[in-house]
Amino acid sequence: MKVVSIVGARPQLVKLGAVAKAFAGTDHRHVVVHTGQHYDPELSDVFFTEFGIPEPDFHLGIGSGSHGAQTGAMLAAIDPILDAEQPDWVLVYGDTNSTIAGALSAVKQHLPVAHLEAGLRSFNRRMPEEHNRVLTDHCADLLLAPTEEALRHLTNEGLGARAVNVGDVMVDVCFQTRDSVLADGTRPQLPAEVDPAAPFLVATLHRAENTDDPELLAALVESMTGLPIPVVLLAHPRLQAKADQYGLKLTQGSLFAAKPLPYRDLVAAVLASSGVVTDSGGLQKEAYLLGRVCTTLRTETEWVETIEEGWNVLVPRPDRLSVEDWHATATRPAPAQRPGAPYGDGKAGQAVVATLEAHLPRR
Ligand code: UD1
Repeated sequence: MKVVSIVGARPQLVKLGAVAKAFAGTDHRHVVVHTGQHYDPELSDVFFTEFGIPEPDFHLGIGSGSHGAQTGAMLAAIDPILDAEQPDWVLVYGDTNSTIAGALSAVKQHLPVAHLEAGLRSFNRRMPEEHNRVLTDHCADLLLAPTEEALRHLTNEGLGARAVNVGDVMVDVCFQTRDSVLADGTRPQLPAEVDPAAPFLVATLHRAENTDDPELLAALVESMTGLPIPVVLLAHPRLQAKADQYGLKLTQGSLFAAKPLPYRDLVAAVLASSGVVTDSGGLQKEAYLLGRVCTTLRTETEWVETIEEGWNVLVPRPDRLSVEDWHATATRPAPAQRPGAPYGDGKAGQAVVATLEAHLPRR
């Protein structure tokens, strides 16, 4: 079996870590196409080194742009690669512009498409990720869902017959990294002002809905600035660019900005922290898997299981809570009950390969 994986943005490289490892133990041919959507070393190269993923077979170097320009450039560049490779499966990941570009190129060439992390829904059509995941699910031939909830969404949309719950590949990577960090005592890389032995929060903020509205971004930053314990803000380049544009300082009061971390250092930082504040989907789940409370700066989440068990709380506008309530929420203690296992057993990478084999289209 020949599979072409199409990736491009940071969270896809983490998922690729699990899938590439599962393919490495087989006779299958796994070809990797990197669109270049993310190009800063800390958003891209570090993951290849860290997870031992071989260099991409193709690097398209597309870079940033408007949604249309970026997606269109990817589509045009992926077409000839898929035409030449003629894989048994084109595997696309998650919900970025690289996902929809890869899926569209494949369906238009009548090549079978499998969507990893299918069936997630925020039901918020203002999010670019929601367009990408809905459209990709509806054009894909095989839907690799991470949870029962995702499977239910697909069934409700008439896609149940093409869907399989394989578990969440991010669990594979997160648990392997956690075990290795704990085994060798990796120390968290924090700004010098933050004492790793005292309580602190890890924060990220990069969603377009939050960063692209100057008034909202200022309110979110200010809310974190006033928290009673230090907040280490791992600043995505989009956030840094918007903060510079709006004249917002990301290091002030309790807030200390730092560069995004490699995965291992992120896991070490979350393990050392007392909780997380974020608008990232991946980090909400990583906090849950690592047993840290999360406060999510969004109106909804795709990872509803984290909310149901009390590990995650949605606070779209902290500035609309009383100061006491906001502080108490962000620094709340962990629930008494340990997190459950709605995201699978950490063997999803192998389940992905086995499911692709089992559903190999006859051509
Ligand atoms: C993308 C995904 C988002 C995902 C996120 C993970 C889409 C629509 N969004 O958002 O779902 O959660 O990746 O990080 O695909 N930039 C750099 N260097 C880079 C990449 C981006 O400086 O390596 C800056 C540029 O100013 C760029 C901006 O960040 O214009 C936005 O980048 P883009 O790839 O469009 O979306 P992300 O915000 O990274």
